[in-house]
Amino acid sequence: MRRERALFLLLLLLLLLHHICATKAHKKHVCPPSSCGKISNITYPFRLKGDPEKCGEKSYELGCENNVTVLYMNSEEFHVEAINYKNYTVRVVDPALQLGNCSSLPLSSLSRSNFSDTYSYNRTGSYQASLDPGIDGESLIFEHIVFLSCNHSVRENGKYVKTEEYVKWDSKGYAYAVVGDLKAEDIEVGCDIKLVAPTSFTTFNNHSYTSMHSSLAYGFQISWVQLACDNYCPHGFCYFDSSKQKLGCNFGIQGLVFTAAGNIF
Ligand SMILES: *[C@@H]1O[C@H](CO)[C@@H](O)[C@H](O)[C@H]1NC(C)=O
Ligand SMILES: *[C@@H]1O[C@H](CO)[C@@H](O)[C@H](O)[C@H]1NC(C)=O
Ligand SMILES: *[C@@H]1O[C@H](CO)[C@@H](O)[C@H](O)[C@H]1NC(C)=O
Ligand SMILES: *[C@@H]1O[C@H](CO)[C@@H](O)[C@H](O)[C@H]1NC(C)=O
Ligand SMILES: *[C@@H]1O[C@H](CO)[C@@H](O)[C@H](O)[C@H]1NC(C)=O
Ligand SMILES: *[C@@H]1O[C@H](CO)[C@@H](O)[C@H](O)[C@H]1NC(C)=O
Ligand SMILES: *[C@@H]1O[C@H](CO)[C@@H](O)[C@H](O)[C@H]1NC(C)=O
Ligand SMILES: *[C@@H]1O[C@H](CO)[C@@H](O)[C@H](O)[C@H]1NC(C)=O
Repeated sequence: MRRERALFLLLLLLLLLHHICATKAHKKHVCPPSSCGKISNITYPFRLKGDPEKCGEKSYELGCENNVTVLYMNSEEFHVEAINYKNYTVRVVDPALQLGNCSSLPLSSLSRSNFSDTYSYNRTGSYQASLDPGIDGESLIFEHIVFLSCNHSVRENGKYVKTEEYVKWDSKGYAYAVVGDLKAEDIEVGCDIKLVAPTSFTTFNNHSYTSMHSSLAYGFQISWVQLACDNYCPHGFCYFDSSKQKLGCNFGIQGLVFTAAGNIF
């Protein structure tokens, strides 16, 4: 009995030490906010190129190009639309998308599956697609718009919305856009996926390409919750609790791996 108690106390002490060390290691470098274009509150963890060395985190460095704040992710650039420090999210948009110009398309494909926390409890990388990658975890909204090029006209599938007026991939082909994660049965024979792009704007008309396009131009939210979570729950699983608008700790099973079955993205 006494031995167990001693062990318990020792464990407690270790936990405490770990906590102290963890807190020390996580020293924030807070500087006065920087500003670029419409983003006037660039502060920790972000830093603007040219800020003093000690400001923000190197892996969250933003650029300022022609009065537009630029975020770098896996060597691709995105324009910053808003930074929400309260819920650890930043809304970005592909630099090639022009609001109101339905012929403008994203430079490259991006979907929820580009983020390591999508299919497993793996939050490597600077940005995440979920605030809580637990099994019932709260994820950020990623509605996908899929662009397809087909060798025949697709009339029988109501999800296929024509884009030919604005976007054409092949002079002889038929071009469509589809909202949502495509299941295998949704892909018509003779159709190729040309591009996938996400939006966090969900209340659009999914039968109208112009409406889909303006939702793409609104952009999508990504999160830096993993950085905020660093050392927050030394022995638990940290997440953003959106009902309380703050970080929370979950002491359930860690490293739970789950897969989102059925979808190809
Ligand atoms: C940069 O953007 C800000 C905010 O949108 C605006 O007030 C300012 O006039 C712009 N500056 C230049 C040089 O375009
Ligand atoms: C900028 O963000 C910081 C950190 O969240 C916050 O304390 C401050 O009130 C914000 N300032 C403005 C002008 O939004
Ligand atoms: C984060 O806050 C912004 C601004 O209040 C809001 O627009 C956005 O929907 C919030 N995101 C999440 C995931 O709660
Ligand atoms: C619309 O976007 C297309 C494709 O990027 C571009 O070729 C065209 O010049 C743009 N139109 C206008 C009016 O900017
Ligand atoms: C997302 O994944 C696609 C396909 O693998 C790749 O082409 C694209 O560059 C990735 N984008 C980012 C920002 O990592
Ligand atoms: C987590 O994801 C990264 C990037 O996708 C990958 O390189 C790494 O191997 C993954 N780690 C685990 C444990 O799956
Ligand atoms: C389009 O939206 C309606 C509701 O607005 C929904 O019932 C329908 O399933 C959606 N269709 C697709 C293809 O997402
Ligand atoms: C379209 O392509 C598919 C597969 O590549 C082929 O089986 C089909 O015959 C083609 N249809 C037309 C109208 O060319």
